[in-house]
Amino acid sequence: MALQAASLVSFAFLVPKEGKANASFKDSSLFGVSLSDQLNADCSSAALRSKRESNQRVWAVRAEAMATASPAVNRDTAEGKKTLRKGSVVITGASSGLGLATAKALAETGKWHIIMACRDFLKAERAAKSAGIAKENYTIMHLDLASLDSVRQFVDNFRRSGRPLDVLVCNAAVYLPTAKQPTFTAEGFELSVGTNHLGHFLLSRLLLDDLKKSDYPSKRLIIVGSITGNTNTLAGNVPPKANLGDMRGLAGGLNGINSSSMIDGEEFDGAKAYKDSKVCNMLTMQEFHRRFHEEAGITFASLYPGCIATTGLFREHIPLFRLLFPPFQKYITKGFVSEDEAGKRLAQVVSDPSLTKSGVYWSWNKDSASFQNQLSEEASDADKARKVWEISEKLVGLA
Ligand SMILES: NC(=O)c1ccc[n+]([C@@H]2O[C@H](COP(=O)([O-])OP(=O)(O)OC[C@H]3O[C@@H](n4cnc5c(N)ncnc54)[C@H](OP(=O)(O)O)[C@@H]3O)[C@@H](O)[C@H]2O)c1
Repeated sequence: MALQAASLVSFAFLVPKEGKANASFKDSSLFGVSLSDQLNADCSSAALRSKRESNQRVWAVRAEAMATASPAVNRDTAEGKKTLRKGSVVITGASSGLGLATAKALAETGKWHIIMACRDFLKAERAAKSAGIAKENYTIMHLDLASLDSVRQFVDNFRRSGRPLDVLVCNAAVYLPTAKQPTFTAEGFELSVGTNHLGHFLLSRLLLDDLKKSDYPSKRLIIVGSITGNTNTLAGNVPPKANLGDMRGLAGGLNGINSSSMIDGEEFDGAKAYKDSKVCNMLTMQEFHRRFHEEAGITFASLYPGCIATTGLFREHIPLFRLLFPPFQKYITKGFVSEDEAGKRLAQVVSDPSLTKSGVYWSWNKDSASFQNQLSEEASDADKARKVWEISEKLVGLA
């Protein structure tokens, strides 16, 4: 154990103080999990943050603002009096981690009804109860993003519920850093990209019409991104780096039979598949912005909520990693963000009236002030965004 801790400590010294990406960073093994796996975990370092943040325009918006500033819709009653209705937000993967913490933060304002779109109904019910979310503030609806039929079914069920859709949060994800072989969705797409990107792509495309119909003052579509998909960061520079290449694997359907299971057409790598899926998430958000922001008045945004080292995202890692990773992030890199804090951050992007800018990627500095962050060259490449969109449309049966 001491040796393992020492290895993590020695990693801390590899993090350059000025936070510059270290292109010559070497991959090495740490008790069955490579050092790059340690870093592939969806986190950055405090050192990285401080330099980047000081170089960027800080949008001085405090987390606590969201608790008081949710917009509310005025509606005429039969008597002509004005009443307020709650905002209606769908959050995918709200049964744990960031999604659950966001549901809790929004429910506590009393201004939102949360539709928890989850694959495990009982788990979601227990999670909502243990988070103390009042019954009248949430509804659980079944959604398995690893099945396009389930996505379509969810959309039908949601429409039948008669609820408006004011905000959609695409939050759910799987991360399979230790997988040696690919696994697949119901339609045969590699699981990470199939769930994190293609499932959300179909969901958000179908629900766009519902968002357009909303009379809420600020309609938003938010897709959770990640620092690890951004190669302009230290975390994003650790091998295997995100790289969509010429997308021959994606165009071939990621099925591992007559095409590669990886977007770039190379050999399967679970950590890279996750990072690639996050690049697709961030590109999709920007393509939505280009195509629909002006016409529909919807805010499209992505974000990196910080390193939430305690969530179920790391469940596929070896137990030793899961034990050491949170204290490592807390005390050594100081990049740790609690689930509660991360939930408040995402809740801000859902409801804060000052975060209505569309086409942007939000991050937070060490004082929890939000700022508009820069995406990597690949994650902001307009041609790639269009290509991801067009191929994804075909794969999910929209073109
Ligand atoms: N943790 C971090 O440090 C970090 C950093 C940056 C970004 N993120 C992003 O934050 C988001 C949430 O991750 P998290 O850290 O909160 O992890 P988490 O606790 O594992 O949450 C992931 C959620 O996704 C759900 N999910 C997985 N596969 C699904 C499927 N096929 N259909 C429907 N739901 C599915 C899970 O459901 P079950 O409960 O049924 O498993 C769970 O509710 C992800 O987009 C992740 O990329 C996380």
